[in-house]
Parts: sequence; C-alpha cells; structure tokens
Amino acid sequence: MIVLGVESSCDECAAAVVEDGRRILSNVVATQEEFHRPYYGVVPEIASRRHIETIAPVVGGALQEAGLAAAAVDALAVTYRPGLIGSLLVGLSFVKGLALALDKPFVGVDHVLAHLYAPHLEYEIDYPYLGLLASGGHTLIARVEGFDRIQVLGTTIDDACGEAFDKVAKFYDLGFPGGVAIDRLAREGSPEAFRFPWPSLHKGDHPFDVSYSGLKTAVVNQLDQFWNPKYPKSPANIAAAFQKAAVDILVDRLLKAARHTGLGTIVAGGGVAANSYLRRRLAEQPNLRVIFPSLKLCTDNAAMIAGLGYQMLAAGRRDGLELNAEARVAGLRRAYP
Ligand code: KG4
Ligand code: ZN
Repeated sequence: MIVLGVESSCDECAAAVVEDGRRILSNVVATQEEFHRPYYGVVPEIASRRHIETIAPVVGGALQEAGLAAAAVDALAVTYRPGLIGSLLVGLSFVKGLALALDKPFVGVDHVLAHLYAPHLEYEIDYPYLGLLASGGHTLIARVEGFDRIQVLGTTIDDACGEAFDKVAKFYDLGFPGGVAIDRLAREGSPEAFRFPWPSLHKGDHPFDVSYSGLKTAVVNQLDQFWNPKYPKSPANIAAAFQKAAVDILVDRLLKAARHTGLGTIVAGGGVAANSYLRRRLAEQPNLRVIFPSLKLCTDNAAMIAGLGYQMLAAGRRDGLELNAEARVAGLRRAYP
C-alpha cells in the first residue's frame, strides 16, 4: 500500500510517500526557519501563511521524487493533532480536498505517536520498549506497546525540553533553532563552569516527570549564583553547562523508568534526540539497546506520518471529512489507550 503523508503541525511543511509503512519513496521537508529566525521562535500566524504557500509544491515534490502520479497513491495520512491550530488546518484541509478529488481514503495521525513510530522506518524494533520523545513541543517518557498504544510514564510539568533550549538560546542570542546552536557551541565549553540546580519535583507522585522552567530561570536570571569563577562566563560555557543539566535530568528519569519497567530497549525521537550529548550519554549505558533515528527522521517530517498512517489504515481505520484539528491532546497520561 502506498501512502502519501502530510505534516504541517508546526513550522515544517512536509510531505512523503511511504510504501507498506516501511519503505520511504520520498521525504520532502520545506523548513520555514528563515521566516521565524528574526523572532527567535515560531510565530503561529507566519507559520500557517507559509504552509498555505508551500503545501501544494511540497506535496507535488514528494510525488515527483517518488516517481508517482497522485492517482497511484492508495491512501493519504495527515497530522491532525497536536500542534499549532492554524498550521494543522492547512495540512488537514489540503489532504481532505486531495482525498476527495482522488477518491481515496485518508486517516488523521497523532504527531506524538508518529515521532515514536519514526525509528520503525529504519530499524526492526519489537514492542514493548521505552520511548522517549523530546522536541520543541513535547517531552514524554512512555512504555510503547504498539503503534497506537502507549502508556505515558513521565512528562514535563512545565516547558518542553526543546523549548528550554530555544528560550536559553534566545536570551543569550546564541542562534536559532536554539537546540542546534547550543549543541554546537557546547562542544567548545566546560560544563563545570556552572552548577545549575535540578528540579525539585514531588517524587512520590510522578517519579519520571521532568521540569524545565526552574533550570531556564537559573540560566537566564541567576547565572552568578551557579557560577564557578575558575571558568570564564562565556557563551560556550553557559551552553555546555545548560545542555548538561537539561540532558542529565532527562537521562536520569529515563534510566529510572527503564529500571522500573524492566524494558531494555530505549527508542528516542523528536528534535532533541538529535542532541549529541544526549546520544553520547545514552550510548554509554550498559545493558541497554538505544535506538536513535537518523536526524531527518528525528525532527518533524511526513515519512513518520505516512508510516504510522499505513499501520492505522491496514488496521481498518478511516477518517471522514468531519475530522477536525486539535491543538492539544487532553489528559496526556490517559490519552493513548
Ligand atoms: O521535533 P521537532 O522538529 O519539532 C517539534 O515537534 O517541536 O523539534 C524541534 C526542537 C526545537 O526546540 C530545537 O531547538 C530542538 O528540537 N533541537 C535540538 C537539537 N536539534 C533540534 N535540541 C537539542 N540539541 C539539538 N541538536
Ligand atoms: Zn515534532
């Protein structure tokens, strides 16, 4: 079955053609980075306007790269939640129109589940495993039992991990996207230059939760309090110490969750999974198999949408024109039965 996938939940306008949920025939991503860079963050109104302009050529490009006419596609898949509502509506409306015109079925795909599915496009992975999703919008540790069945074990109680990278980078003018800039800059810095505090969460309730607002405040407003004066207060040192704190928190919760569940495989996804320090930290863990998708499948893309869409379609799922976009997934911990 050949599935055309479309992703427009944030600032990447993407389309991909995937066969049988595994074989990527094309994977086109039009980034809007340059339009958001002046604001050091994604501006929702700009994002949806750009999606309107680029979606037709992006979908056309994906079909062309796959060497297929639109009529050769068996079904369509599109992100319908969660994300920026205006951006989501552009992709969803486009796919509804195309499905109607081609007289093909379509299915709405959850972006969180799609990130967790992305590694399956490259690796043979058996369920269950421990999934980590860390991106600009999400931070989630889950027991993944199937392509549409996860048990959320931990999440952030405030900012997403990638969001913290972006906010720190914005404040110190380190570059955009923040995670990429900090990752690069941190290589020249000493993480010992600052000893940033760890979040004090109520450990009993949700032992696998993380929090980033306190760390962000420490890095942005209380730098001197955590400074080791043996080191210069340089941007590279700030980047290295912040990155270490942000990633170590995540790794700590992840390893706790691995011990708690007894799961020996960790599968990472989302933009922060591109982080080189995170990759290094997890790779050095004994007795754990750690799987990272390639960079192109870590960040937002439509191959993961087409891949997961195939699994849903193969299980008999179809959506109708009444399907609406949803900005949020309500009740995250229980939302994925
Ligand atoms: O998955 P993604 O492309 O979009 C969302 O669904 O959010 O993730 C983007 C996020 C941004 O916050 C970006 O700063 C972060 O991923 N990111 C990184 C790295 N590359 C991207 N964070 C840390 N280290 C990186 N190398
Ligand atoms: Zn994403």
